[in-house]
Amino acid sequence: MAIRNVGIWIVVLLLMMLFQSSISEDPRWAAKRKRMSEKVRKMFYHAYDNYMTHAFPYDELKPLTKSYTNSLVELGNLKLEHLSQEYNGSALTLIESLSSLVIMGNNSEFERAVLWLSENLSFDVDARTNLFECNIRVLGGLVSAHILATDSTNRMVQGHYKNQLLVLAEDLGRRFLPAFNTPTGLPYAWVNLKYGVMENETTETSTSGCGSLILEMGVLSRLTGDPRYEFSAMRALRTLWGMRSSLNLLGTTLNVETGEWIEYSSGIGAGVDSFYEYLLKAYILFGSDELWSMFQPAYLAVQKYLRHGPWYHEADMRTGMATYWQLTSLQAFWPGLQVLAGDVSGANSSHREFFSVWKKYGVLPERYLLDHQIIHPTEKYYPLRPELAESTFYLYQATKDPWYMDVGESIIDSLNLYTKVEGGFASIKDVTSMELEDHQHSFFLAETCKYLYLLFNDSFLVGRNYVFTTEGHPLPVLRAWHDRLPDTYIPSTHTYSIENGGREKGVSAMSLQICPATNLNHRDGYEEHVESVCHIRDLVNNHRCFNDEDCGVDATSCRQRSCSIAGFCGLWLLT
Ligand SMILES: *[C@@H]1O[C@H](CO)[C@@H](O)[C@H](O)[C@H]1NC(C)=O
Ligand SMILES: *[C@@H]1O[C@H](CO)[C@@H](O)[C@H](O)[C@H]1NC(C)=O
Ligand SMILES: *[C@@H]1O[C@H](CO)[C@@H](O)[C@H](O)[C@H]1NC(C)=O
Ligand SMILES: *[C@@H]1O[C@H](CO)[C@@H](O)[C@H](O)[C@H]1NC(C)=O
Ligand SMILES: *[C@@H]1O[C@H](CO)[C@@H](O)[C@H](O)[C@H]1NC(C)=O
Ligand SMILES: *[C@@H]1O[C@H](CO)[C@@H](O)[C@H](O)[C@H]1NC(C)=O
Repeated sequence: MAIRNVGIWIVVLLLMMLFQSSISEDPRWAAKRKRMSEKVRKMFYHAYDNYMTHAFPYDELKPLTKSYTNSLVELGNLKLEHLSQEYNGSALTLIESLSSLVIMGNNSEFERAVLWLSENLSFDVDARTNLFECNIRVLGGLVSAHILATDSTNRMVQGHYKNQLLVLAEDLGRRFLPAFNTPTGLPYAWVNLKYGVMENETTETSTSGCGSLILEMGVLSRLTGDPRYEFSAMRALRTLWGMRSSLNLLGTTLNVETGEWIEYSSGIGAGVDSFYEYLLKAYILFGSDELWSMFQPAYLAVQKYLRHGPWYHEADMRTGMATYWQLTSLQAFWPGLQVLAGDVSGANSSHREFFSVWKKYGVLPERYLLDHQIIHPTEKYYPLRPELAESTFYLYQATKDPWYMDVGESIIDSLNLYTKVEGGFASIKDVTSMELEDHQHSFFLAETCKYLYLLFNDSFLVGRNYVFTTEGHPLPVLRAWHDRLPDTYIPSTHTYSIENGGREKGVSAMSLQICPATNLNHRDGYEEHVESVCHIRDLVNNHRCFNDEDCGVDATSCRQRSCSIAGFCGLWLLT
């Protein structure tokens, strides 16, 4: 199977996952599904209603004092410098809740929110915001909600809706553009919505800051017909990819004016995470070979240099030598990405390790020292992050193994036990004492509640095909946006029937197609061997495997490969 068909197969798999969920409802689990999705719905409304009562139209809720914070200007700003006195909030939590309201079937509240925002939201404010955060939360929330509002199957805002959210999104997108005006095309991390890039603005940004814009800005271009947004995001991505080392690793922070690295240590957590995520998801959404030709080597390099069994450490991008042996809570998204990439077995083992740390503390600490098996002394917090729930959702979709529902239940129970207060859900300041902090992050509504809900009730996904942004906002996979998607893969125009492969327990159909053992060389017409993204051996112990788990799934047969006594991976039973 040639690599260029991979996108189609990802889409087919997603469709199969969706149809499968609608067809094979196991009565034993129906009661649990109903009970748990009801519980999550209550959590969402507890968070949402408290926000609307005590914080709306400001940005986020402070659940302990039942007050608000205008946090959009604080996001990503650890030193809290240059904070604007003028900025009075953008209803951030409401924007972030829009797609969750639709997924939970609350069209009337969605409609009310859309109308309020249409009339009252303005970005002409003196607010220095983090481009990355503003993009994933605000622009992503708006374009996703615009698409949902114009989707006739949602039967809403008919008549009232005149693309106001798209007008807002485009206005915001235009305010992003000055950030990209650099010699390298890499965007500044900070942009003032009213005045553009400020004088003496810092030139330092992160890999995820430059590399996680293409989904939202690409969709904005396709919705408006104005190519500048996609062009800017894509140019930044190309520059960033051009800065990779000979090992195909990237650092964490860089200078946007010079295009030089500042921090050479490379990982999959904070500062980098969504760069990998957006290469694959943008490939699924837009189907361009260029994106795949970045994702494949980038993912391989992570598996080669950063993986240690089910764990991922950091390494120097120049040498591949390990730098930090730390697990960060943000890394827990990785198993979800691995499911999309077809490596369900790798996703499963890494997810289990994250869940074991969750169980050890009751929630996931922000940073955990792998070499000492203890929590980082100053990063003991858990700010209601979604990543473990997100990966659990993907793994359940791919495997239908009810064990993942138990994981979801355990996450839900912990959240209710430790973080629920009268005024909403509060972040945890210290997971060893469960002391709370007066902050309910908007991503709790955009992601944590959404993924937990979808784990138990995925009716929103049936017959449709979405990519979720890194902030959990759904974007539809559409033929019109996709470089190669044929008619037959669009659910609305074709009924796809599930007949063959890919449903073998624990194996993703994608692993069959996304990990080709050979690749057709078009120029010379022969099949050449390519490295697969699925089965990369560990580097420890001289490239030898210890057990079958280290060997991944075979690309062509979808079977778990085994580890020989001598420590080599292979399909020994078949060859
Ligand atoms: C923000 O609120 C303050 C106090 O209510 C008000 O004086 C100020 O004009 C507002 N600023 C903007 C930009 O609306
Ligand atoms: C799933 O969610 C949808 C939308 O919220 C709802 O209409 C449906 O009844 C739910 N299904 C179950 C089994 O709870
Ligand atoms: C929608 O949300 C509003 C606000 O929380 C609530 O009052 C209403 O009951 C919800 N409707 C449905 C159908 O869930
Ligand atoms: C816009 O905000 C004002 C003030 O809060 C409110 O009275 C008005 O109803 C809002 N518009 C909509 C459409 O909700
Ligand atoms: C920018 O920084 C330089 C050097 O630190 C300083 O002299 C200048 O006043 C600053 N300009 C502004 C507008 O802050
Ligand atoms: C996940 O790992 C567990 C424990 O190692 C194993 O029992 C299960 O079959 C695995 N599932 C998949 C889908 O690989």
